Amino acid sequence: MPWLKRGTYFQCRCELTEHGFVSHVVLFSALSHTTNMDVYSSLPSFQHAALITILGLLFYGLLRVIHNVFFHPLARFPGPRGAACTRWWLAYMELGRGISLADLRVELHQKYGDIIRIAPNELHFARPSAFNEIYNAQNKWDKDHEFYRAFDANESFFAQRDHLNAKHRRALISNLFSRSAISELQRLIQDQLERLCDALEERHIAGKSSDLYLAFQCFSADTIATFLFSNSFDQLSFPDFHGDIIEAVDIAMPAVTVAKFSAVILWIIRNFPHWLLKIVSPRLKGVIIFKEVLVAQIKAILKDPKLLDDAPHRTIYSELLNPEANKGRPPPTVLQLKHEALVLFAAGSHTVGTTLMIGVYYLLRNPEAKQKLVEEVHSVWPILDQAPRYEDLEKLPLLTAVIKETLRLAVPTPAGLPRVVPPSGAMISGARIPGGTVVSQSALFVSFSEEIFDRPHDFLPERWLSPGSNSLENWLVVFSKGPRSCLGINLAYRELYLCLAHLFRRFDVRDDPARPADLTWSEHFLPLFEGQHLHAYCKPRDE
Ligand code: HEM
Repeated sequence: MPWLKRGTYFQCRCELTEHGFVSHVVLFSALSHTTNMDVYSSLPSFQHAALITILGLLFYGLLRVIHNVFFHPLARFPGPRGAACTRWWLAYMELGRGISLADLRVELHQKYGDIIRIAPNELHFARPSAFNEIYNAQNKWDKDHEFYRAFDANESFFAQRDHLNAKHRRALISNLFSRSAISELQRLIQDQLERLCDALEERHIAGKSSDLYLAFQCFSADTIATFLFSNSFDQLSFPDFHGDIIEAVDIAMPAVTVAKFSAVILWIIRNFPHWLLKIVSPRLKGVIIFKEVLVAQIKAILKDPKLLDDAPHRTIYSELLNPEANKGRPPPTVLQLKHEALVLFAAGSHTVGTTLMIGVYYLLRNPEAKQKLVEEVHSVWPILDQAPRYEDLEKLPLLTAVIKETLRLAVPTPAGLPRVVPPSGAMISGARIPGGTVVSQSALFVSFSEEIFDRPHDFLPERWLSPGSNSLENWLVVFSKGPRSCLGINLAYRELYLCLAHLFRRFDVRDDPARPADLTWSEHFLPLFEGQHLHAYCKPRDE
């Protein structure tokens, strides 16, 4: 490299610091003694500069890998060598080989034991006791930003790294999700249920079975949208339940898995022009229009807050923009409101829809349990057009047990929810974990633990009715635990009770034998069902 001879030299310096390995690639140029001509001729060509940069980066990468494998504080934990080297190993497994993370974790734990290193700075735990050690009311541990930024909702309280930052906005919205606030809005859920039942009836009259996955996704999406924004996006009105938003959500789901590995890809996804996206992938149109309508609604409200008075009930905007509750803090911006709205919609729709579908799936395969459930609901709902109140339904022991068992088996949020161990470190699963480590446990490892649940893969609602079942309650962890656990739990339970009761009281539900359900799914934070959906005939009952 002739230009290097002219007093320019390249230095690569490597240091081990308390923050890990740091390398510096420094290009020095000692040209002061040269003439102008010399300056230009001694400057590196573009190719040379590119080559030096690439070599520098490769060298840095190599040193980093060596550090990760041999000198990193997690070097003593078992796991695949590739995972210890770089996070790209996980990307290769998930994106390159298309292995669902839910399956990969199981495979790795079988091979390497209870605690595995799944990325250079990340551990996953198999023993169910780890769940309560990581997620509990005392642990105010940070969320792992690298993971949560993939949702492209950094301004929402859900994606906030630090629990104190999230606390204020979560507190504002939590008013809307209290048991009493939700019971005031029972009518709203009831209205969406009526629309669902009408649509199921129409399909029966037309001699068709119904896609219950789509039907429940439409129901939960319309319910949560009406609840949050006082604006249903009318998914239930689409022919055969092919709601444009809910289908687009499924199509877009893998993008979260891609985005969690690269900020650059996330940037491209975020900045891709909407008009072009609509052409390239017309099936994503639903989500794009949904976002556009939300932003328009937010801007209109910020311009004229009196619009909030016209809403038939409280919405997230009335809570978030409430000046008294904000106690002198600046009101949220358009972007913050948009991110809150998107996260709440996503959190509240897919989860409930999935749970309902799984519940019906298992009930249809357990005719005895189904028959007992129908009789139990009938006992508080003898006259068909006089539906009971939620408060009566939640006292029904079998319905309650069916819902708990369904939630256990459905695990509607199967992702490991990564948290960062505080600087003082922590004991998890009997091991000393250094501060700064990202730790997680997917709720799947609790729900399907043989240590806790007898025959964990079977649908056995009666396990929740046996005398010793109280001890199981602690292990129903699908809403997570601690300060960042599910905010919508009261709403979720209400939708589950009301929807299952209405479905089995008002319809004789039977599998469509021509379309056997295949509930194969892959993990993209939420489960993406890739096989044949559950189809059933829903014949209205006369009395
Ligand atoms: C069966 C139904 C549901 C399940 C299983 C479920 C599960 C969960 C889980 C596991 C988390 C923790 C996520 C994390 O740590 O990253 C969570 C958070 C959350 N859920 Fe749910 N959820 C359900 C329904 C709902 C509903 C109906 C809403 C209503 C909007 C909702 C709103 C939220 C919110 C806002 C958070 C974020 C809380 C925070 O970060 O502080 N969820 N949910």
